[in-house]
Amino acid sequence: MGKFASNGIVFLQISTAFLLFNTTLAAEASDSLWETVSVYDNRLPQQLSTTSSFPVHCKGQCSLLCQRQSSCKGFFYNDVSKDCLPLSLVLSYPNDVIKNGFNSNGFRYYSHRSTCPVATSDTLMHKPSFSCFQVTSDNLKLWMGARDACQDAGGTLAVLDTKDKMDTVMKAMVNNTNFPDIIYHMGCRRPLDKWSSPRPDGVNDFEWTNGQPLDMALAAPYFLPGDPNNGGAQDENVIDLWSNNYLFHWVDIADGSAGYICEFPLI
Ligand SMILES: *[C@@H]1O[C@H](CO)[C@@H](O)[C@H](O)[C@H]1NC(C)=O
Repeated sequence: MGKFASNGIVFLQISTAFLLFNTTLAAEASDSLWETVSVYDNRLPQQLSTTSSFPVHCKGQCSLLCQRQSSCKGFFYNDVSKDCLPLSLVLSYPNDVIKNGFNSNGFRYYSHRSTCPVATSDTLMHKPSFSCFQVTSDNLKLWMGARDACQDAGGTLAVLDTKDKMDTVMKAMVNNTNFPDIIYHMGCRRPLDKWSSPRPDGVNDFEWTNGQPLDMALAAPYFLPGDPNNGGAQDENVIDLWSNNYLFHWVDIADGSAGYICEFPLI
């Protein structure tokens, strides 16, 4: 890609005015990650003996403890005793054992949400990594501004470093005219300390913001043919998604005001 095609940007409103996470209260913020699935009555499996539960201050604390342990899939919390029991397994019981909201010890079960907190046309679910992707098209930003906006909302610019994640986003967007025909930032760019340095053309030192290098063998099918080409006088520092009449090709491009795709982990 050559010069940043700012005159090709169509500024369209789509409904992006929502927050995935309520950031005002820790307890509320963590609540949005969970759904109350159940409800057990005298059916606690042995490994869920509540003797290993421990006291916390509130449900939000139990939720945060679970979020911080990668092995935690959900938790029991007792509203009265304020006891917390993180679980390393996901419970799914047939409906007939689900009773009135609590098990006989007064614990309520919270499991990870299986859908995005807000399901809209611009929030996409990715099951293998339990991520939601949110596409913003009505508030264009430079790459670093987009990165900060995703972080402020509790996520990151989308890191599409696996085929599953690439396919999820691309299948949803290609030829889908619900997504405006503009350019979108992702979490892929040259290392920031290289942005202003002269560099030889032909060096593809792009990496995702998690430090993984851009794997061209994986990403090649999505690139505009010929890209990344280090065109544009060595200033093509970011990998963006260029709608180009809804074809949504990946391009290397000079940073400019664009829409952006955030990723929010559900776990
Ligand atoms: C998108 O539309 C173009 C033009 O009609 C077509 O050539 C292309 O195969 C479509 N791509 C997908 C993935 O459907």
